[in-house]
Amino acid sequence: PRKLTTVKAIARLSSIPSIYTFPKQPYHEPVSDTKEPIPTIDFSLLASSHPDERSETIREFGKACRDWGFFMVTNHGVPERMMKAIIEACREFFELPEEEKRGISIFNESVDEILCWRDYVKIFQHPEFHSPNKPPSFREIALEYSKRVRLVAREIIRGISESLGLEKDYIDETLNLKNGLQLIAANLYPPCLRPELAMGLPPHSDHGILTLLIQNQIGGLQVQHKGKWVNIDPIPNSFLANIGDHIEILSNGKYKSVLHRAVVNNRDVRISIAVPHGPALDAIVSPASKLICDPETTVPTRPKIELLQNPPAYGAMKYKEYLELQQG
Ligand code: SIN
Ligand code: FE2
Repeated sequence: PRKLTTVKAIARLSSIPSIYTFPKQPYHEPVSDTKEPIPTIDFSLLASSHPDERSETIREFGKACRDWGFFMVTNHGVPERMMKAIIEACREFFELPEEEKRGISIFNESVDEILCWRDYVKIFQHPEFHSPNKPPSFREIALEYSKRVRLVAREIIRGISESLGLEKDYIDETLNLKNGLQLIAANLYPPCLRPELAMGLPPHSDHGILTLLIQNQIGGLQVQHKGKWVNIDPIPNSFLANIGDHIEILSNGKYKSVLHRAVVNNRDVRISIAVPHGPALDAIVSPASKLICDPETTVPTRPKIELLQNPPAYGAMKYKEYLELQQG
């Protein structure tokens, strides 16, 4: 069997091993030169005492979810020092000697037998909190960070719920977010001598409801938009948010869980920390009844013409079963 190592450990080799070489297609399609900026949402306006400001923000959520599936979130209230602390804690984690990370870190993943140019660790934060014991401050920083981020995520999810014409707490309650899944998925992408041959993370959509991502100000994330890959530049002190597969299902396809990928570069270490939020593991997810017409009677549950063309496009499935299917 192939001995897995961290990518960091081999990144200084003068050539890149063929096991990391991606075929040119479909991973290296041209990148869009669009000047269209990704939507930015001022989170603080959700709490505005001015009702117009909140409803305008809800409209912006709707537009961002329909047009991009991705948006930047500013003024979210998570202190900058916490965002920096979690990035540094993850950097220190990746720098630990390899034997100390064994058993915690998932070193790499392969796609069709080709390895990604990244080191990666996935840590469950909720409903049960887990943490590596090293570096020593990791536990405390992760606990504080994941709690704060979860509050922001649930508030954004309330906004998304309203933007679909549902009750503010519809998603939170139906998918039982009180017991919802939350992970820290940290990535370290070492510089690569031949970045055009390798791939940090191949195209995928996220499972779950909402992912909030931060990064160390080194770009590399690309999002599929209007059929092309768009480079997303990091904005300091903000979250990059994207909706996951279970919002696509719940919204009956009105909002799409969008493909994204990470490319690598030959200069800088890039660190990104994604915090995905999902339903409770035993929650059953299906299109919201208010957004579909009843297939039994074909009478819409809301008397709206558009609903007549909206039979459920997705079946009902437990979140846990969905995850098991994805892992093969
Ligand atoms: C992810 O999609 O999980 C991470 C992408 C990134 O590194 O920006
Ligand atoms: Fe992702």
